[in-house]
Amino acid sequence: MSRARFEPAAHLRGELVAPPDKSISHRAALLGAMNSEPVRIHNYLDAGDTNSTLEALRMLGAIVEVRPDELVIRGGGLRDVETPHEPIDVGNAGTLMRLLPGWLAGQDGSTFTLDGDASIRRRPVDRIAEPLGMMGARIEATDGRFPPFILHGARLGSLDYELPVASAQVKSCVLLAGLVAYGEVTVTEPTPSRDHTERLFARAGVSIERRGRAIAISNVDELELDEVQVPGDLSSAAFLLAAGVLVPGSRLLLRDVGVNWTRAGFVRILERMGGVVVGDFEPPPDPGVIPREEPVSDIDLRAGPLVGTTVEADEVPLAIDELPLVALLGCFAEGETIVRGAAELRLKESDRITAVVEGLRGLGAEIEATEDGFAVTGTGGLEGGLLDARGDHRLAMLGAVAGLASREGVEVVGMEAAAVSYPGFTADLGRLLGAA
Ligand code: S3P
Repeated sequence: MSRARFEPAAHLRGELVAPPDKSISHRAALLGAMNSEPVRIHNYLDAGDTNSTLEALRMLGAIVEVRPDELVIRGGGLRDVETPHEPIDVGNAGTLMRLLPGWLAGQDGSTFTLDGDASIRRRPVDRIAEPLGMMGARIEATDGRFPPFILHGARLGSLDYELPVASAQVKSCVLLAGLVAYGEVTVTEPTPSRDHTERLFARAGVSIERRGRAIAISNVDELELDEVQVPGDLSSAAFLLAAGVLVPGSRLLLRDVGVNWTRAGFVRILERMGGVVVGDFEPPPDPGVIPREEPVSDIDLRAGPLVGTTVEADEVPLAIDELPLVALLGCFAEGETIVRGAAELRLKESDRITAVVEGLRGLGAEIEATEDGFAVTGTGGLEGGLLDARGDHRLAMLGAVAGLASREGVEVVGMEAAAVSYPGFTADLGRLLGAA
């Protein structure tokens, strides 16, 4: 396991293009393989998780051609899937594990096995097994809810499903199953979550409608997608934004970042805490409309003093992967920073409530875990020390940013974990420090 030290930084300065969006890359590749005509994807993320998706699609019969400036996927359409003899290895990719079964569930008479790394084996799949089971497919999971699991495809029927948790992964799984089901599929979310699947479906000519919190789709004979342009990943950019806010005297310009409203919760939280973030962010969506595009903007940022804030349950899905950063910002803010209604964090690549609380406490933070979040008391800074990434990419990057903003520096154990979503992270930080 690699160790990396991050020393206190003078300031971060300069311009960067954020890495391609992981969520949209996964979806673009999946829809590419479901399309009967070739689909060209520009700016596909070249990282551990999204490469697992390409490998999985190859096993299912798609031809994936990686060209220098684009990715071309040639699939066999919605119902022409090869059955692999080996288990499909999703690696560390929770999104692949939750989305792919939606499509495979509709392959009547075929059986698939999915497995992944040690972290994946503790992430529940009962949340997709339930709706897919109601449509007619069957999942046999380890201990009833974990990978490895066997999926028996079927002729899927219609479904009207109320999501028990606001999860874009589960929503997307049901919508993908809806593409190959016979009958209308409606999925209702308790509160909005990222809507990349819906936007891509609309672009692919699927009849998809939003009715308040419900999204309804009907099956189609084929998708009509030709090209997808993947924007920069706001979740990856968020680590640079946090570093820029926490290291005094920093000034950053991040280019071509996706600024879809359902992904930008962290920016709104950061602004509430006093950060100055300038960009052309998407306004809240009209509940009756599904946009076809993913908005992109440059983001300009200046460091400044922070105040504590409270993040409530309805904001959680809009900033789910950035909540560890909210905890870090809270250490530097005046007063208390509280996150509630985020029990989902316990089911991510690590138990992110325990990992963030123990990790930051080890660096000198005053932070308490609650059942569904955490409470941080700002002390104006962090001492530093050692942080174990626990195999979790976002923990590794959290430790690095904490180091730059700390008084004594931070050593991150397992920094290589960052490569599943942002392989160039350390190099990008170096560039911003070098330009200082
Ligand atoms: C994702 C949705 C989120 C997020 C994950 C990616 C997606 O998970 O944490 O990193 O691409 O749909 P949940 O929807 O399960 O909360």
